Amino acid sequence: MDLPKRKVTPGGVYIVFEGIDGSGKTTQAVMLYEYLSNRNFEVVLVREPWVKAIKDFLYKHDLDPDAEAYLFAADRIILQKEVVLPALESGKIVVSDRSVFASLAYQVVRGLPADFIMAINRSIRLPDIVVLLDLPLELAVKRLEARGETTRFEDPSFMQKVRERYLELAREYNSLFIVIDASRTIHEVHQEILTKLAEKLKNKSIKIDL
Ligand SMILES: Nc1ncnc2c1ncn2[C@@H]1O[C@H](COP(=O)(O)OP(=O)(O)OP(=O)(O)O)[C@@H](O)[C@H]1O
Ligand SMILES: [Mg+2]
Repeated sequence: MDLPKRKVTPGGVYIVFEGIDGSGKTTQAVMLYEYLSNRNFEVVLVREPWVKAIKDFLYKHDLDPDAEAYLFAADRIILQKEVVLPALESGKIVVSDRSVFASLAYQVVRGLPADFIMAINRSIRLPDIVVLLDLPLELAVKRLEARGETTRFEDPSFMQKVRERYLELAREYNSLFIVIDASRTIHEVHQEILTKLAEKLKNKSIKIDL
């Protein structure tokens, strides 16, 4: 017999993963998705950028920061309207691989004002919880190299600034963020996420029995 699915009402929960390239976002987002699904929650897993045409364009072209910021914002608005908001409204948990905080990190390091990013993202719903996977650059490089990618960190000083910017955002938006030491094993990181997530949900009076 299938048990009825567990919902989180009102308004669902919107949990997003952030961190520099190779920090483990996709790995951990999938693990959290599977953990929650196995515990019979209704969960939706999404990944930004979402629209294939926008994603392909972003990766094929070396865009200036403004064009990049607009495309990410447009993609996010479409994703939220089509998938994220309807899911949250029906009480589901949304787990997202990246969010507006990626724009507030990467595009701000590329020189755009945070206010401008917020303005073009004015219609989006902010995450309830941001899981920041923090780790030293060298480790992220090693992980990407192990995955066969050697081209990603052509500019390590840029990625270092992105790491620092994420930590700054975590301080600025303290009530939303949990910061995870992502340098440990996949399993240890997953466990730390569950522990800190449970604490945060409790603090925010969101009733989910993880
Ligand atoms: N804790 C960990 N320890 C060792 N290797 C890991 C760990 N977490 C993830 N990896 C491996 O490191 C690589 C990068 O992880 P993943 O793709 O999850 O990162 P990401 O943050 O999604 O990267 P990207 O920014 O490229 O999307 C993968 O090959 C993954 O299997
Ligand atoms: Mg990824």
